[in-house]
Amino acid sequence: MITSLPSPSAASQWCDRHRNEKISIGYVPTMGALHEGHLSLVARSIAENEVTCASIFVNPLQFNNPDDLKKYPQNRQRDIETLQRVGCDMVYTGLLAQFFPEVEDVKQIKMNDPGPPGKGLEGKFRPGHLEGVVTIVERLFRTVGTCRAYFGEKDYQQTLVVNHLAQRLKGEGLIIDVVPCPTIRENSGLAMSSRNQRLTENQKQVASNIYQALSRAKQSWKIGQHDPAALQRQLREQLAHPDISPDISIDYAAVRDQNNWSAHTPNTEISNARALVAAYVGEVRLIDNLYLGGR
Ligand code: PAF
Repeated sequence: MITSLPSPSAASQWCDRHRNEKISIGYVPTMGALHEGHLSLVARSIAENEVTCASIFVNPLQFNNPDDLKKYPQNRQRDIETLQRVGCDMVYTGLLAQFFPEVEDVKQIKMNDPGPPGKGLEGKFRPGHLEGVVTIVERLFRTVGTCRAYFGEKDYQQTLVVNHLAQRLKGEGLIIDVVPCPTIRENSGLAMSSRNQRLTENQKQVASNIYQALSRAKQSWKIGQHDPAALQRQLREQLAHPDISPDISIDYAAVRDQNNWSAHTPNTEISNARALVAAYVGEVRLIDNLYLGGR
């Protein structure tokens, strides 16, 4: 039977009790609306730790668009039942104010800086988003304490800023081992996301072109096209193809060196390439990325 806890303080006690008994803890932070992608993180955590906990908290600090927050799918009861079915040991939630007991009003919450990995891409197109992520993730990590924490690579830049945060916390003796996990996809290639629930069947078909464009960029890299500008152009051309347009509107289609992320400038030579796309299909903003290869 899963233990379902209503507050960060109750979750902290549960985690402390297990740690004191030298039981290893795996942790999967979520905003609910669970899908196979989340469940793959839980399965990996169960395989690698003695107990696994998850959190369900729709973090208002990371929504730069209030309408997006309002429309974010939520089904708490179903999520808890799903976590129980797959063998998760504990799930917790809380109110924003409970994560920040030091402030009288949540408007006074001091936002964290995501650091160099937060520059560009999501940092540019969703101002405040990554700040909101690292601000809540720090509290989620402090709640659980030393653990292995599992994140999906669909949110690639998020895994980088979370890793940067974990390095800072390590300096304080809070050891979080951030484990990035592969993106889980629909048969069409569409990356699983809670936001997919808001797409019509036809829009899902259109959205699967994001993965197709990324895959073609990977083929181009394989046969020797290593110029980031040319690869970016190719991505944009494929996404804006007349058969797909006008249903896709691109925020960015970028190619970056994943081992030299922060030093990125448009003319940087790339050795370990990752292509990243953010695009709207109808009103739904989707992100995806793919490792292209090394040289
Ligand atoms: O990836 C998510 O679901 C969220 O950004 C996270 C990490 C749970 C923080 O709210």
